[in-house]
Amino acid sequence: DTHCHAPQFSFVGLGTGVPLLQWLEKFTFNYEAQFKDLEFAKKIYPKVVDRLLKNGTTTVSYFATIHLEATKYLHDLCVEAGQRALVGKVCMDRNGAPHYVEESTAVSLADTEAFIKYCAEKGSSLVKPTITPRFAITCTEELLSGLGALAKKYDCHVQSHLNENRGEIAFTKELFPGKTYTEVYQAAGLLTRKTVMAHCVHHDAADLALMRTAGTGLAHCPTSNFSMFSGLCHVRQALDADVHVGLGTDVAGGFHPSLLSTIRDALHTASAIQTNGNAQNANAGLTFDEAFYLATLGGAEALNLENSVGNFIVGKAFDALVINTATAPIDLFGEETSRQLLEKFIFTGDDRNIEHVYVQGRRVSGSS
Ligand code: GUN
Ligand code: FE
Repeated sequence: DTHCHAPQFSFVGLGTGVPLLQWLEKFTFNYEAQFKDLEFAKKIYPKVVDRLLKNGTTTVSYFATIHLEATKYLHDLCVEAGQRALVGKVCMDRNGAPHYVEESTAVSLADTEAFIKYCAEKGSSLVKPTITPRFAITCTEELLSGLGALAKKYDCHVQSHLNENRGEIAFTKELFPGKTYTEVYQAAGLLTRKTVMAHCVHHDAADLALMRTAGTGLAHCPTSNFSMFSGLCHVRQALDADVHVGLGTDVAGGFHPSLLSTIRDALHTASAIQTNGNAQNANAGLTFDEAFYLATLGGAEALNLENSVGNFIVGKAFDALVINTATAPIDLFGEETSRQLLEKFIFTGDDRNIEHVYVQGRRVSGSS
């Protein structure tokens, strides 16, 4: 899962059907503000890690909140549970809510660096920090370039949102005149081979070229893009432009914490573009194989983790699911090939079929 907001699990399934900027103001900032209280985080975060593991998510890139202590706690939980994770303390020094914005640019940068150092001290090979400007709207230029400098200093992962929604893009243009949205991040040193940008629904060829040159990944979040009317991300164009693409649940913009339903929504997004089609969209389709790739090796490439995970090449870590296809909700009729068993699982299975989950060779979740 290349893009997931751990604190938003506190309202997953609620607040759907509202476009991005209103959704942030009406629901999200209020829920996230509660993580100032570590006791609140202790109620929510263990459930997130557990729920994602049960759904077979071996690697996840998490946004936490602006709170350093709760973000450290999320890091520790992932280490303890054995989930491979990138964890980011969210940065926002403007345009949050009065009760949900960081005190200053300096505090945002200092807390980000403190979190990077905390992770380094803990020394986990599974869980790493990721520099996390929420999106350009909530960050001053000074904060963005400070975060770019930290990314360089620590050779750290980076994640943010990009080109998700038309209202968001228009506001970004007002805040950063003379640059495209993608150029705002590029100018700050935030487009790197270790960066993943969520959504990229409204990309054009110039955006894709910048991402490709930087080696920056695209986290395709189709469930969220439907729920918040963000639009249809043309993944075929991104793949044809040699951009690394993975899948993200974007919980709670997306309402389902499973990559299975995300694969289905990715296929339906491509199908909707193609069905809508004219000559220009004739090649918008994604195949089943490509969608499965986006959920596995594609995701690993988007997070710059392809040397350790994504497939079963000798030398990579053993991250794997043991699937029982002979149980509900899958129905088999006896003649299925192994390839067809995979298709049945992806389209008709769920967490009830996932018997064991392994990360780095360790069994981290399972029914027995
Ligand atoms: N853009 C800025 N913040 C968010 C968020 O929490 N979710 C989504 N989907 N987009 C964002
Ligand atoms: Fe998001």
